[in-house]
Amino acid sequence: MVAVTVSAPAKLFILGEHAVVYDGQAIVTAVDARLSVTIRAEQADRPQLSIDALDVGLQNWQRDITTVAQQGQFEGESRFIESCVARFHQFHPLDHSLYIRTQSHFARDLGLGSSSATVAATLFALAQLFAPNLSLADIFDMGLDAIRAVQKLGSGADLAAALYGGTLYYINREPRHVYPLEIDELPMVAVYSGQKAGTVSYVQQVRVLRDTYPQVIDPIIQSMLEIVDSGRQAIQGQNWQALGTLMNVQHGLLHALGVDTAALSEVIFLARQAQALGAKLSGAGGGDCAIVLHASGMEKRLRAALHKIGRDILPYGLHADGVRID
Ligand code: PMV
Repeated sequence: MVAVTVSAPAKLFILGEHAVVYDGQAIVTAVDARLSVTIRAEQADRPQLSIDALDVGLQNWQRDITTVAQQGQFEGESRFIESCVARFHQFHPLDHSLYIRTQSHFARDLGLGSSSATVAATLFALAQLFAPNLSLADIFDMGLDAIRAVQKLGSGADLAAALYGGTLYYINREPRHVYPLEIDELPMVAVYSGQKAGTVSYVQQVRVLRDTYPQVIDPIIQSMLEIVDSGRQAIQGQNWQALGTLMNVQHGLLHALGVDTAALSEVIFLARQAQALGAKLSGAGGGDCAIVLHASGMEKRLRAALHKIGRDILPYGLHADGVRID
């Protein structure tokens, strides 16, 4: 019997969501809200996969690994783990039964990337046990395939954040690149909008809009990508004033793409009234979180304003560690 416990961080998009899908680039940061995965493995003639993921209501879920590996489609709460095991088995055939237990230290409703953290942690744990020479880049490639096998889309930016940690400039074109941004801190906080959103439907909605009005939407996407590049320079130069301005413009463009909501906008306008340097929605939109670039001394004002609408700053730091053995 061999065993390992690892954890991966949650993530937030700083700039470039949606635009990154179209062979673009984005800036993402790892969030210090972690998801743990423990894998125990035991040699077996007919290897089984067992999963306990109590956060999502899975208890003693079991299937033959050969059956999992042959599946073309993955559904239900076990889907991301199954897809990881299938992918891993393809390159490193498993002759062990796996008992996998996950535990999330953040609520899945927040939209902080529990799927990408699950994929990062599961594949990293499998690599520790059965393929210790795999690099993070190898694990990233496998993970992106595993995510796409489940949801048919995904830029991989969230997975990069979960694996590498820190704050990253991520390029979603072949060959994919991940550039860590060398900073000590990212003076931002996240605020949940109170609504849970599904990424896939919003990505599809934006794609339909782009297909219908390419002459209108393509320039918006181009501007969003320009903002990502300018934002990278602003972050590297710790020019927070400039970053705040760019975040505000990016939010306006996301609004133009139709993914903003009244609840997100309310948080964002309150933050700006509280003299935030910038505020925008983070991720696919339709709900989930807003991020706020704070000016020194504004936190009390922001909290007071948010309390009036029943919201609060999430208690998680950004620019956190990537996947690690615990
Ligand atoms: O909703 P989230 O936080 O999973 O972010 C989705 C970001 C998109 O750019 C819209 C999609 C993607 O795969 O990058």
